[in-house]
Amino acid sequence: MKITLSVIKADIGGFVGHSGVHPEVLQKVQEVGLKEVEKGNLIDCQTLVCGDDIALVMTHQHGVDSELVHGIAWRAFEEGTAVSKKLKLYGAGQDLLSDTFSGNVKGMGPGVAEMEFEERPSEPVIVFFADKTSPSAWNLPLYEMFADPMVCAGLVIDPKMHDGFTFEVLDTYTGKAVKLSTPAELYDLLALIGSVERYAVKSVWRNSDGEIAAVASTQRLSLIAGKYVGKDDPVMIVRAQSGFPAVGEVLEPFARPWIVEGWMRGSHNGPLMPVSFKQATPTRFDGPPRVIAAGYQIANGKLIGPRDLFDDPAFDRAREQAQLMADILRRQGIFEPHRLPSEEMEYTTLPKILKKLEDRFYELEEGKKAPTGEEHHTETD
Ligand code: F6R
Ligand code: MG
Ligand code: MG
Repeated sequence: MKITLSVIKADIGGFVGHSGVHPEVLQKVQEVGLKEVEKGNLIDCQTLVCGDDIALVMTHQHGVDSELVHGIAWRAFEEGTAVSKKLKLYGAGQDLLSDTFSGNVKGMGPGVAEMEFEERPSEPVIVFFADKTSPSAWNLPLYEMFADPMVCAGLVIDPKMHDGFTFEVLDTYTGKAVKLSTPAELYDLLALIGSVERYAVKSVWRNSDGEIAAVASTQRLSLIAGKYVGKDDPVMIVRAQSGFPAVGEVLEPFARPWIVEGWMRGSHNGPLMPVSFKQATPTRFDGPPRVIAAGYQIANGKLIGPRDLFDDPAFDRAREQAQLMADILRRQGIFEPHRLPSEEMEYTTLPKILKKLEDRFYELEEGKKAPTGEEHHTETD
């Protein structure tokens, strides 16, 4: 049976500030989704929450980019926004960038990760959902799950995984993508996806048979709207077991927290903390950035689950380490590298301040020119 798993998420209002979702808003979004299950438009529909974002997890047989399915998500978020507005929640409807739906939610604010596949005899999938960070936060764990044998033993041991995986990488500045096959092109892949401000992994396929393995949302709200409209908190779907990384191999990268862009005002580096559903409420300095993992078994398109996969003492140490990393970074206050470089900040006062001080700058060292960036990294370096 061929099914499509679509995860579409949006921030349609925070409770309180940007830290959580109000239960009435969630209930409304859920209600709209479930009505579509009753009508037979969706096979199944659930909601997940991470911070101030809601994700609709939907199964159906309409394929990816379905106008019907995107329309359902849009309507659910619109109706949820009406509740948000009534309660005067913070930033009510902030991710719905248009008044009208025009066939596809892409480019209209919500984040989308969806994949179509033939349901296996048993189909374990994991939906990751993060708040206070951006889609390139998935670059490091996707590399470790699908290309690093020190993390994913299956790459060496499982004959179905031994040919490696192909990564589709999006250049978020130009909208162009490139496919790189690992292990052969691993170093080229890492050269790109280590530049997290620009490149984001969009999807991953198994080389031996071209099966889809993972898909991430890669919308960048800041680029869509041309002005700050909130951080593009990402979702990701990963298939697990029998020829894909085991559930434990998929989760392993998150046991060692790393630093991602986002956090307060979308303008800071901070550790990505793996948390249970209940702890997905970023409050310290609006963070630190959180990630949840919802595990499902899909049975004839029905979502069996979720299991709250980070609700496990084995991730307690990662949470402790993330707290320590947060303390260390917070010590830097407004100074880089805790604060992002000015061109990476979601909003900045720097151009205004420079304008104001323009006439007050004077020559202190003669004959110096501002660097253009071109003079570094020549071949003779
Ligand atoms: C980051 C985020 C928050 C807000 C911050 C200021 O993604 O959502 O950290 O940026 O709370 O919010 P405003 O500007 O709405 O007061
Ligand atoms: Mg928000
Ligand atoms: Mg958010």
